[in-house]
Amino acid sequence: MVRHFLCLADWNREDLEAILRLAEMMKLHPDGFRASCSGKSLAMIFQKPSLRTRVSFEVGMTQMGGHALYLGPRDIQLHRGESLEDTARVLSRYVDVIMARVFSHESVQSLAESASVPVINGLSDLLHPCQVLADLLTIREKKGRLSGLTLAYVGDGNNMAHSLLLGGAIFGMNVSVTHPPGFAPGESIVAQASRIAASGAAKVLATEDLQEGLQGADIVYTDVWASMGQEAEKQERLELFRAYQVDRNVMEMARSDAIFMHCLPAHRGEEVSHEVIDGSRSVVIDQAENRLHAQKALIARLAGGSRPTGSS
Ligand code: CP
Ligand code: NVA
Repeated sequence: MVRHFLCLADWNREDLEAILRLAEMMKLHPDGFRASCSGKSLAMIFQKPSLRTRVSFEVGMTQMGGHALYLGPRDIQLHRGESLEDTARVLSRYVDVIMARVFSHESVQSLAESASVPVINGLSDLLHPCQVLADLLTIREKKGRLSGLTLAYVGDGNNMAHSLLLGGAIFGMNVSVTHPPGFAPGESIVAQASRIAASGAAKVLATEDLQEGLQGADIVYTDVWASMGQEAEKQERLELFRAYQVDRNVMEMARSDAIFMHCLPAHRGEEVSHEVIDGSRSVVIDQAENRLHAQKALIARLAGGSRPTGSS
């Protein structure tokens, strides 16, 4: 059966752990993996813009001896009405892995249902699992472990909040989402994350109260207030989210050694103050770098190229 990567919760902790360990190896010994995707191709469908996802997937394939194709919104026939199903079936005859950044999560599910090669979710309105894979790698680098840590996300209950809830819960982390009224994470995702967390004695919380959400936080995480596709709501959201900016006062509600994380792109002066994102506790550029290592490991796992060059 073809293995897809649409949602972190579709994978168990052992499999995700194996990807993180491979990513750590690849980061430490990139030369050992120069040919691990030799002759393999990755198709990258983008319905939305991207810096990190596009470049890290493309460069990752190059570094492993493979090839990536950027298929932007106007490059293929989707915008002229070709179905996702036909797109997936045709691409499956050419490439070894498909990555897609889409609006509706159902779009990436449709691609996966019709593809005969693995499909990776490169962000949907519901989830952003590749980002959280890199974030878990970053947290472990900075804190030495995952299980038992507390991650406090502040802001919109969006795709990032959802994937952090699921990814954190899988690895035994306590995860809180502190959001303005009306912007809670999806109930079904919170319920799913709570079930996963409970099996590892961790806790999940959605709250409107900053003090409650930030209590004991080892990691403070935020994201834009208006995601891609919500540009028309931006002005209204600026008002509604104003009290939830991660600034020095919010960081002081967390543990004194808490780190600051953001998936980027960031809007300084909106969801985060300049001094926090550019301060000594911010690890946002390390997070961005780790997209490369985490995704190389993911592609190698899905395309069957996880062995170092020369091993049998
Ligand atoms: N964090 C992230 O996915 O960035 P891009 O939108 O630039 O890919
Ligand atoms: N929530 C943001 C994440 C960007 C990486 C968005 O969907 O635009």
